[in-house]
Amino acid sequence: MAGIPDNVIDQIQDRIDIVEVIGSYLPLKKAGRNYRGLCPFHHEKTPSFMVSQDKQIFHCFGCGEGGNVFNFLMKYERLEFPEAVRMLAQKAGVVIPERLSAESKAQSSLSSKLYAANEMASAYFQNVLRQDSLGKKAYAYLLGRGLNDETIKMFRLGFASSSWDDLINYAKQKGTSADILEKSGLAIAKENGGYYDRFKERIMFTIFDPKSRILGFGGRVFLPPEADQPSADKANNSPKYMNSPETSIYNKGRNLYGLNFTWKFIRDEDEAVIVEGYLDLIVPFQHGIKNMVSSLGTSLTEDQIRLIGRYTKNTVIIFDPDKAGELATLRSLDLLLQEDLSVKVVRLPEGFDPDSFISRYGAQEFKNRIKTGQSLFDYKMSVLLSKYDKSRLEDKAKITGEMLPTIARVQNAVLQSGYIKM
Ligand code: UTP
Ligand code: MN
Repeated sequence: MAGIPDNVIDQIQDRIDIVEVIGSYLPLKKAGRNYRGLCPFHHEKTPSFMVSQDKQIFHCFGCGEGGNVFNFLMKYERLEFPEAVRMLAQKAGVVIPERLSAESKAQSSLSSKLYAANEMASAYFQNVLRQDSLGKKAYAYLLGRGLNDETIKMFRLGFASSSWDDLINYAKQKGTSADILEKSGLAIAKENGGYYDRFKERIMFTIFDPKSRILGFGGRVFLPPEADQPSADKANNSPKYMNSPETSIYNKGRNLYGLNFTWKFIRDEDEAVIVEGYLDLIVPFQHGIKNMVSSLGTSLTEDQIRLIGRYTKNTVIIFDPDKAGELATLRSLDLLLQEDLSVKVVRLPEGFDPDSFISRYGAQEFKNRIKTGQSLFDYKMSVLLSKYDKSRLEDKAKITGEMLPTIARVQNAVLQSGYIKM
């Protein structure tokens, strides 16, 4: 498109909210799922101009004008497409490569090659899970963890075999070079030339973007029940999960696991439940709790929070109990408030995560826990009161020191002054 690579345009659209952009030109009012206002493109007294946050489009039922955020600017500001893109790029903090020539074309064709390589690999891993002898054991293990076949298919779970180059060879047959596999993070270049598969003897989780394009993979160690000692030792030395590295299409801080399956549910229920693991999303999903996203074990970034904010302003965060008391973890939640999201906190019993909690106590009890989450303020306060002794002046100062940044980020003025008093 006019020399600006698709991935740059995607990146801008990912970071910009059409409601915010159009809302800066004309007053918009929330109307159900959409926003409504007086159409700027024809004269009217009752508003028939709609903006959809989910779809990131606008449409006027009066004059028929409509399109995405770029189309709005082109029409409103009378800009050419590249000018509209540049204007929003600046707002989004996205750098458009200058002189977009061969280089950017190459980049955008590289992206499509990487998506294609990931599709190929995901299909391959899924086959291995069903056909390879160790793969079948991994499949049985997944069933044993309570997943059903439909879930395994839907989330495109797979297995990476024991060989060092099965994927590389399979890719070659399919016309994908080892160089592309390396760029997609699936293969690693050897020092003395040649490549080997990055993932070996692992249960593979396919990682999608919200548009269901495959960005990368997460691999969980798998120890077959009768594993002999040496191989078990080897596996014990490697990390439990190995994930794709960042690539030119996979930016970890900008993506959330599961969102392609769950965004509709998050929007419909107007709430996002945030968990940390792959199975902590998949298992509840199978049990009908579908309004979830997973951060994959890291603290949420601003980009991830904005991504959630597109679908809902209400979040429930489920903590691993071992992390739940850490001040650093609590501080990271202030970011959610700053982006104007409401945050409730659920703390599971010692030693449980959402997956194991549901296996032990059932999905209904899990839903109850979600409903009875504490506000971030109350939660943080109770953690601090258990850590410090509020009758000591120094401790009281520490508690206040931790609470003030949280309170400062509360957007609602009434709540804020209430908190300050407390
Ligand atoms: P956990 O260690 O709690 O694993 O890590 P889990 O999800 O409960 O896995 P199971 O139930 O034992 O199979 C939580 C999440 O943190 C990330 C993964 O996304 C994982 O799902 N993680 C963990 C890593 O990326 N690397 C690691 O080495 C460990
Ligand atoms: Mn778990």
